[in-house]
Formats: sequence, structure tokens, C-alpha cells
Amino acid sequence: MDLIIKNGTIINANETIRADVAVKDGKIASIAENISITDCENVIDARGMLVLPGAIDAHTHLAMPFGGTISSDDYFAGTRAAACGGTTTVFDFVLQDFGETMVDAVKRRDALCAPVAAVDYSYHVAVKDVSGELLDSIAECVDFGVPSFKVFMVYDFGVTDGVFFQVLQKAKECGALIEVHAENNELVNMLTEKYLSEGKTSAWYHYMSRPEFVEGEADERAIQWAKASGAPLYIVHLANKQGVEAVTKAKDEGYPIYAETCPQYLEFTSEVYKREDGRNFVCSPPMKGEASRQALWAAVKRGDIDTIATDHCPFQSSEKDWGKDDFSKIPNGCAGIENMYPYMLSAANEGKISFTKAVELCSANPAKIFGCKDKGSISVGKDADIVIYDPSVDFTITNDKMHSDCDHTIWEGITVHGYPIQTYSRGKLVYDNGEFVGEKGWGKFVKCSLK
Ligand code: URP
Ligand code: ZN
Ligand code: ZN
Repeated sequence: MDLIIKNGTIINANETIRADVAVKDGKIASIAENISITDCENVIDARGMLVLPGAIDAHTHLAMPFGGTISSDDYFAGTRAAACGGTTTVFDFVLQDFGETMVDAVKRRDALCAPVAAVDYSYHVAVKDVSGELLDSIAECVDFGVPSFKVFMVYDFGVTDGVFFQVLQKAKECGALIEVHAENNELVNMLTEKYLSEGKTSAWYHYMSRPEFVEGEADERAIQWAKASGAPLYIVHLANKQGVEAVTKAKDEGYPIYAETCPQYLEFTSEVYKREDGRNFVCSPPMKGEASRQALWAAVKRGDIDTIATDHCPFQSSEKDWGKDDFSKIPNGCAGIENMYPYMLSAANEGKISFTKAVELCSANPAKIFGCKDKGSISVGKDADIVIYDPSVDFTITNDKMHSDCDHTIWEGITVHGYPIQTYSRGKLVYDNGEFVGEKGWGKFVKCSLK
């Protein structure tokens, strides 16, 4: 054996077991009560520790051209930070160029990501152009191993309802999964212009121009198109109560509607936009009021939120400062890739949810929904993506302890209870007690299949 983890408590989405784990050639080779350590030079004593499957962050934007700049974590820095927060697989968004097939978009990105990624990764393609043959290239991309596609209802690269519906119909035909960033673009633009013309320029007006109903209406519309097309739909970064209610209703009616939320929507409310550093919290959709935060936690607990992801899209303070006097100039997005698993596990440690639930949301469900067959649990035959977690330590997040290239974090000063002490990616130690110990280019492209 290459590695044996002894005496720990294994947590999967559906079980908690006291057992040893043996790793061979990057895979979990056995799980048993007392695995012999003869002939294994790498034995870890995990007594008192939890042994968890690595998290899967299904929503990141690394080196993304956006808001007049490029998000500040490239494919190495972002995946390095992931490893240090117990995330062993990252799904990054590839923005299709006009005229480009979906597979060409993936290949273009992979040429940049493959040489530097520190943990395993896959992609979703953000669709911009379905003219001519390009709509059919969705099916080709499914066969290539990238079966998930996103449409934006906002931003200058957002699609019309017509294109959204066409994409859903194609997904139904070829077994793809469509994701949506749901906000009402017309209302955002109208409200933004209105507030700026009234001289209301602070970060608070980012929230005011994208309030609860702007997202809720778009969630309802997106669900409506999914129902009509018969295709499944995955709503990314759900952040409002009305949307939660729409998801619950659609699920209760039996429709395959999935919902993701992010730690920032579970922790913060729109009050952050009144802070001096409010612009650092500017992301879309924005954090909403306390009623939405509570509705999201309730949905997490009853299973109407399927996954937690980060929407990691950091920008440097100097770039956030572009919007000091005009909220519309603040690049949208925040860092979070290193904080997701510790945050959700801390919620479990505090008794808000169970540890099995945290693993389900952060690892098992994203593996299942996006078709990563080798990930998502500590089971024989799966990739040895393993986190050793110490539930007894407190960890106060400060940017100097993070491993991203971003110069600030919205999580500054927040204490989580319990913290990962080691992360293994396919059996290789990549994070050890505060230090990144992995290597550039170690990460491999994960082919996904929804069949
Ligand atoms: O503000 C955000 N979320 N930036 C990244 C792009 C997106 O909308 O997901
Ligand atoms: Zn988005
Ligand atoms: Zn995003």
C-alpha cells in the first residue's frame, strides 16, 4: 500500500464508520477495521480526526476576463487554494467565444489549465452563441466528457429567453445538464441607471439594483422554461427566498430542478453593503436580507438545496476600488474556494447540520449531479481524494493564511470550528498543516458522464 490512514472516523454522505483506509496507485484500495501496516511506509494516525472525501467546488471563475479585468486567481493559484481548503476537484467555467464550438472552447481552456492545475478539475461551458451548427456542438461536448452548460440571464454575454429555451431543448435531446445564473437583466439595468442618475453610487445600491424580486422572478421564469422543455435545470448561486420557494415547489411537483447556494449567502446579508469595505462583497446575485438567509439554511436542512459551491471569482482591492464612487464599476465576485468546506464542516461541528449532510452537499451531490464517477465518497475503487479534518481546533480566517493570489478576503476575522489538517489528491499529499505541498500540473481533467 502507498498510504494507510488509521483510527479515523470516515464520513460519507450516507454513513459514519470507524475504520482504516488504505490507498494504492491513487485509489482507495480497502476500508477495514484494522488494516495491517506491514510493507507500508506512509502510515497516518488519524485518531480523533474525521476522514472525509475531498470537496468538489462545482462553481469557480479562475482567470476570468470580467468587469474590465481578469479574476485574480489563475488556474494554479485557484486550485492551490482549493487544495488548502480540502477541495480536491474544481469545476471552472469556460466562456464560449462567438463562433466557437463547445468542445473547442473546452480545448482552448484546457491548454492553459492542464499544465498548472494543482488538483483535479473539470469544466462547464457558458454558452453565448448557438447560431448555425453551434447548438449541435452541445451534444459533441457531452460525448467529450463535459456534459454541463450554463446560461447567464444577465451581463453583456447573457442570453435571451429564446436561446435559453433552445439550449434546454437540446439538453433534453442529448442528456446534458443546463445551469442558469438567474436575474432579470432589464430590471438590473433600469435600476442601476436610476440609482446612478440620482447620485446613489455606494455599494449598497448594488444590492438595491438587484433586490430579492430581481432574482426571484428570474428563478421562476427559468424553472418555467425547464418544466416546458422537460430538461433538468441546475440553478447556480441561489440567494433569495422567493427562488427557494420556487425550487421547493418544482421539486415537490417532481421536476428535476437542482439548486446550489454558496457560503457567502448563508453567512452574510445585504447589510455588508453598508460597511466601509462593502464593495469587496459585491458579487451577483448580491447577498440578500435576513429572511432569504434563513430560507436558504432551511432549504439546506430539508434537502431543497442540493449543493454548496463557491462562485470563486476574486478581484484585487485596487480593482474593487474602481467602484468607490460608482457601484456599477466594481468587478463582481469574491474569493471563497478555500473557505467552503471549512465553513460547512464548521456548521456541522456546531450542530447546525450533520457531518454527513456537509459531505453530501460539498462532495457526494456535486459528484452525482455532474457525473464524476470516481469522486464524492470514501469507498473502495474511488479516487483517493481525502481530507483529514481536526474537529477540535478553531481557525480564524485571515488573508495572510489563505493560499489565493487575492489580497483580501470577505471571510477576514471569521472563526470556523474545526479545520482540515491534510488534503490528499489521488493519494498525493497536497496540503499539510497550513502549507501547500502539492505541485503545479498534478491536477487531471475529469471526464464527466451523466449517462
Ligand atoms: O459576481 C459574480 N458572481 N461573479 C462571477 C460571475 C457570476 O455571475 O457567476
Ligand atoms: Zn453567476
Ligand atoms: Zn459564477
